[in-house]
Amino acid sequence: MDTVTITDNRTGKSIECPIKQGTHGPDVIDCQTLYKELGMFTFDPAFVTTASCESKITFIDGDKGILLYRGYPIEQLAENSNYLEVCYLLLYGELPTTTEMEGFTDNINRHTILNEGLLRFYNGFRHNAHPMSILVGVVGALSSYYYDAMDINDPEHRNRSALRLIAKMPTIAANSHNYLIGHPYVYPRNDVGYVENLMQMMFSMPNRPYEINEVAVKALEIMMILHAEHEQNASTSTVRLAGSSQAHPFSCVAGGIATLWGPAHGGANEAVIRMLQEIGDVKNIPKYIERFKDKNDPTRLMGFGHRVYKNYDPRAKIIRNSCHDLLNALGTADQPLFEIAMELERIALEDDYFIERKLYPNVDFYSGIILSALDIPLNMFTVLFAVARSVGWVSQWMEMMNEENLRIGRPRQLYIGASQRDYVSMKQR
Ligand code: CMC
Repeated sequence: MDTVTITDNRTGKSIECPIKQGTHGPDVIDCQTLYKELGMFTFDPAFVTTASCESKITFIDGDKGILLYRGYPIEQLAENSNYLEVCYLLLYGELPTTTEMEGFTDNINRHTILNEGLLRFYNGFRHNAHPMSILVGVVGALSSYYYDAMDINDPEHRNRSALRLIAKMPTIAANSHNYLIGHPYVYPRNDVGYVENLMQMMFSMPNRPYEINEVAVKALEIMMILHAEHEQNASTSTVRLAGSSQAHPFSCVAGGIATLWGPAHGGANEAVIRMLQEIGDVKNIPKYIERFKDKNDPTRLMGFGHRVYKNYDPRAKIIRNSCHDLLNALGTADQPLFEIAMELERIALEDDYFIERKLYPNVDFYSGIILSALDIPLNMFTVLFAVARSVGWVSQWMEMMNEENLRIGRPRQLYIGASQRDYVSMKQR
């Protein structure tokens, strides 16, 4: 067995930590005995070098720009698959046969509708709420409907929860939008595909059915495949950590949605469009580039940079091409925001600041332009990311719950506060 020796140079005491190897990626040092043997913790704020679990779902090579779902390259899945098939793959590890896919689709369709009681929750939200806040609330509330019926230790129950979540997310998301714009609740349709159904719930009215636009559906399908899963990012780690306490899966996912909302994570797609709108014209780009580089200015180039990718995010490449195809097909190829984005990317990729720090466009740099072209309102961008990512969250949750020795997650800390001291009464302070 290969090991790493860790020596406390103050005492000379050493331990041998086993080196573990995965299928791909850097080896890891198994330091689980560190505290027991040396009385020390590792210190790794933001978990920059910590592998928190073993997983068979997704592999990322950030230096080479590779992303695999269950071993399949993201490029091949985006080209040949569809979102629901990718859901099956992520959940169960293999591509489905025709019969398996029919059974899976049927199962999803069975769960698309929401309990009518849940619909009343919407009315309690403020008229101008951000739909992500509605999503957090309504998905959290889902756990109240399936609490008694759910045995967290039964794999069949866990699977049913996963199907329910994937099936209901489009209904919840689309109707957050309908509530905010004062439109009536639209019921799901099981006679159309998953993505078509999402669009018809967002865009149809009782007096005006949504006409399915194949080009739009294809673009959204690709976007959803690219956003379906991304290993141990902040929102997925939140879901896993919450799930490790054996909490209800819908509550865990509500935590994941809350985490995704932030602009450093899924909220970036919305932030990119706001940034492009603020730049307004290609001639203003140089001025903004200076701001993005200025350490005294908190403004960052949104949609650029990634904790793991130190190369072009493979999803950004696909989405950039898809953006081109969509705008051409819709006859809006001269979309000003797309022009600004492409020029911004060109300038940033030639700038030493971005080159030295290996900052490349990430998945969110172009996804907002696609969503805008599909007439999806800006505040719904991160919501659609959440719909797509729900399969990633539940796949990771199911994998964790299937572990033989599941233990509650509990990071440690380096305490730097006051030493023990005695209470002083208010009069004497
Ligand atoms: N614009 C300008 N400078 C940047 C940017 C950026 N977008 N991203 C990183 N940097 C700089 C940062 O200032 C630091 O510089 P220095 O070494 O001189 O202090 C260096 O690059 C390393 O940055 P970091 O913040 O330590 O990197 P991180 O791994 O902690 O953060 C990130 C990754 C994605 C949060 C960050 O790159 C960022 O804020 N990007 C913009 C927001 C964004 O697009 N988020 C979407 C991520 S992809 C989708 C998702 O995860 O949901």
